[in-house]
Amino acid sequence: MMKDTLTIQYPDDWHLHLRDGDMLRAVLPETARHFARAIVMPNLVPPVITGADAQAYRARILNALPEGMTFQPLMTLYLTENTDPDDVAAAHASGLIAAVKLYPAGATTNSASGVADFDKVRGVLERMAQIGLPLCVHGEVTDANIDIFDRESVFIDRVLDPIRRATPGLRVVMEHITTAQAVDYVRAHDDDLAATITTHHLVINRNHILVGGIHPHYYCLPVAKRETHRLALVQAATSGDNRFFLGTDSAPHMDAAKQTACGCAGCFTATNTLSILAEVFERENALDRLEGFTSRHGPAF
Ligand code: NCD
Ligand code: ZN
Repeated sequence: MMKDTLTIQYPDDWHLHLRDGDMLRAVLPETARHFARAIVMPNLVPPVITGADAQAYRARILNALPEGMTFQPLMTLYLTENTDPDDVAAAHASGLIAAVKLYPAGATTNSASGVADFDKVRGVLERMAQIGLPLCVHGEVTDANIDIFDRESVFIDRVLDPIRRATPGLRVVMEHITTAQAVDYVRAHDDDLAATITTHHLVINRNHILVGGIHPHYYCLPVAKRETHRLALVQAATSGDNRFFLGTDSAPHMDAAKQTACGCAGCFTATNTLSILAEVFERENALDRLEGFTSRHGPAF
């Protein structure tokens, strides 16, 4: 007989965009309904850069939470070339932040204040390694001459691997991975490295964005790759390997900003994520591993 219920520990989302103001109030319940905690991305305009910024944003999030709902926002700081290592360490010591986010300058939505010269953040990264504060990484190079479908794998070779070698002990989460190369890189390195996988990258490849007309609501960064990569992601997510866990990258935008001549990047998936994941894991005969992916591997890391 088909089982039609599955009980799992309350999931967490290890990469989420909650935005601010009216959008925050609109989308927060969609996450709080299903998730106990989430790593909250700092790419507001202007970004969440200092401990004081994160403190204020956290208060706005809790204030937007509807009566009777519980949710714990895990705050992050947006790494810039001017980030003060002492401010980061103090925010960590007080329990305010759970991670620091690295955006290569210009890589994605609201990343203009990100890092262009990686030497300038060496001091912050070294301090993070000392205090055990993880770095969440948007792993794409931004060079105009690198094909958009190659930007993640090139980033691993040119930026991520050198940073990790130069900063022993730095704990890194490769976020929203989209390639077999990223899966292989995580598998090849035992300590201090993990990766999040989004819901949408488990179910769409680049054909879904481009075949039969352009589908702006499937466009996000890193952009979905070819089917072989999607299959590698499904394999990683459903394998039970605890270095892979859920980060939805649920990223709401107004329709007007998506459905236009130059539509912005981001897929809003908070509402339907868990049912989609259940379908993906069931198809792989791996429903018994869903809880690891949604609820256990992330907290353990
Ligand atoms: C995110 C957003 O809209 O803030 N967009 C996206 O395509 N994923 C930014 C990000 O996480 O890259
Ligand atoms: Zn994101």
